[in-house]
Amino acid sequence: MTITHVAIDTARMRAEEFPLSREWAYLNHASVGPLPQRTLRALDEVNRLFARPHVWEAGDRGQPACAVRAAIAGITGAQAQRVAFVASLAHGISICAAGIDAKPGDNVVIPQSEYPSLALPFLAQEPRGLQVRWAPKSPEGRTDLDAIARAIDGRTRAVALSHVEFADGFRNDLAALGQLCRDRDLLLIVDATQSLGAIRLDVDGWGVHAAVAHGYKWLHAGFGVGVAVFSEEGLERIRPTHAGSSSVCDNPYVPEPVLTWQPTAERFETGGLPYTLIHGMQASLTLIDEVGVDSILPHAEQLVDRLNDGLAGTGYTVASSLIPAERSQIVAISSGNRERDTRVQVQLAEAGVVTALRPRGIRVAATFYNDAGDIDRLLDALPAL
Ligand SMILES: Cc1ncc(COP(=O)(O)O)c(C=O)c1O
Repeated sequence: MTITHVAIDTARMRAEEFPLSREWAYLNHASVGPLPQRTLRALDEVNRLFARPHVWEAGDRGQPACAVRAAIAGITGAQAQRVAFVASLAHGISICAAGIDAKPGDNVVIPQSEYPSLALPFLAQEPRGLQVRWAPKSPEGRTDLDAIARAIDGRTRAVALSHVEFADGFRNDLAALGQLCRDRDLLLIVDATQSLGAIRLDVDGWGVHAAVAHGYKWLHAGFGVGVAVFSEEGLERIRPTHAGSSSVCDNPYVPEPVLTWQPTAERFETGGLPYTLIHGMQASLTLIDEVGVDSILPHAEQLVDRLNDGLAGTGYTVASSLIPAERSQIVAISSGNRERDTRVQVQLAEAGVVTALRPRGIRVAATFYNDAGDIDRLLDALPAL
């Protein structure tokens, strides 16, 4: 795959799409990605339409969903018909956890310290006998491929983990994990909430069976809408466990409907879609397309490098891995003392620099419209140690 990235016109992005950047150095996209101006306009337009629903019904109401499925397929190396809408990461992972074929005593391997919405849906499968086996972190606190391999046994059916980790931005090697799972005939189920929209995924190439992401972070699409992207094999091996009028291909509006599952990922969608939110997501995806998804990570990494250089000699350090294959657009920085980090994060907020306190320190998460000025503002606001 040829990856092309181009310099981003941050000044235009800031002025046209993200007016919050005039006031704040917003470096908290790993918590919530702000809605671009075009998305606000799209949401306003569709909400107005819903005040006259018959007009909306008479239009091409399926178009935004088709456009989003195509756009998501384009940045995940999948096909549009393998993209389903979900309400959250927890919802999409619950579909996967409930749908995997497992006998009592079978297990799924999950690294420790994942975002709770990844692990809890599997723990909820305990009544049918599915168990969770935790893979320990390395002594440096990183997810360890060897530990995952060691946790796998003859009863393992799946490995589930995040692509980019919420605590410190550690990026897991999904190609290597895909190989590990292929060799053992296991499903690979991925939480892509901290990567989709900022990093190109290659679901088919890597051997991921399902990648799920909530839309309110790097997709800039707000709460309540996310996507689940399946591989062909994922679609075959993850059985739908809930049904509704959208799940079937035969006309269900008959006295005795028949349950004939859609061959596409729509089988997981059950009822009416969140059309309003999908309309907003469509607008946000046009912006990501305009910027070019392949440009976002290199841009953010340059900002991380500037941050790392600026921290030299201050006593603060980057707590995240900066190894090229492991780093991402998210880093945690730390003064080495949790209580002090807590105070510093508040001081940064008072200075207009928005970050988040997470287990490995102060999390800094920049994206395509952030610029060197945002990083310099953070560095200037850091109290001396
Ligand atoms: C890695 C990761 N996954 C998922 C989520 C959100 O999960 P949910 O959509 O279930 O609220 C977050 C939110 O911070 C996250 O960091």
